[in-house]
Amino acid sequence: MTSVRTKRLLLDPVTPRSAIVLWRLMQSAHLREYQDVPRYTRDEFARRVASRPTRLDGGAGRFEWLIREGDGETPIGWVSLRVGDHAHGVGEIGYSVLAPHRGCGYASEAVRAVVALAFERAGLRRVDACCLPANEPSRRLLVRLGFAAPKLQRAGAIVRGRPVDVLVFELTRESWRAPRRDRPQPETPHPLRAAAKPR
Ligand SMILES: CC(C)(COP(=O)(O)OP(=O)(O)OC[C@H]1O[C@@H](n2cnc3c(N)ncnc32)[C@H](O)[C@@H]1OP(=O)(O)O)[C@@H](O)C(=O)NCCC(=O)NCCS
Repeated sequence: MTSVRTKRLLLDPVTPRSAIVLWRLMQSAHLREYQDVPRYTRDEFARRVASRPTRLDGGAGRFEWLIREGDGETPIGWVSLRVGDHAHGVGEIGYSVLAPHRGCGYASEAVRAVVALAFERAGLRRVDACCLPANEPSRRLLVRLGFAAPKLQRAGAIVRGRPVDVLVFELTRESWRAPRRDRPQPETPHPLRAAAKPR
């Protein structure tokens, strides 16, 4: 996996060398209200990262990127993409940004970039995202990025040790490719206006 640069961020693939950086981030406050962040020991987490595939080519596995602001050394969150063994061509995305860095659009920017990788590089046909109904910022993010058709899955996740209902959003490759009003579109002159243009 290679790094991805967006307008304001550097997405840095999590490797065995940087696993400890992600593990430390995962211990931060205000990350577990609406999701289950695993509580592995440092060594267990490093071992799991070392066993992950290193190429994002559509094969099953878990892929993660640290979100860094600019070229900054200090990571501010992470995005994960889990490609399933069973549902061929489907991935599930997850994302977290440390509390002091929320409300700046960083999560949307990072998730948008990983979704592009999922469709363009890994060739997935659908990306899903699970979100607790009460997680308003996450729901807004998903809608902003074009995720749709949330289905309620009863007891679909365990959060803070309890089964909880989750909304499962999905984004298909076709709808991701379709032009959306909130995305900048290439300038194409209106045919009538172009014809009326003075020479
Ligand atoms: C879910 C989570 C990542 C969302 O973070 P966030 O900062 O609200 O999301 P974004 O980075 O997309 O920022 C969007 C907000 O920044 C604002 N913003 C400010 N400057 C912006 C800019 N330059 N560009 C885009 N948005 C900007 C947007 O208006 C938007 O605000 P709104 O949601 O009030 O409308 C965050 O709440 C989190 O990490 N929670 C804990 C972990 C978690 O729940 N993860 C998801 C599990 S499903």
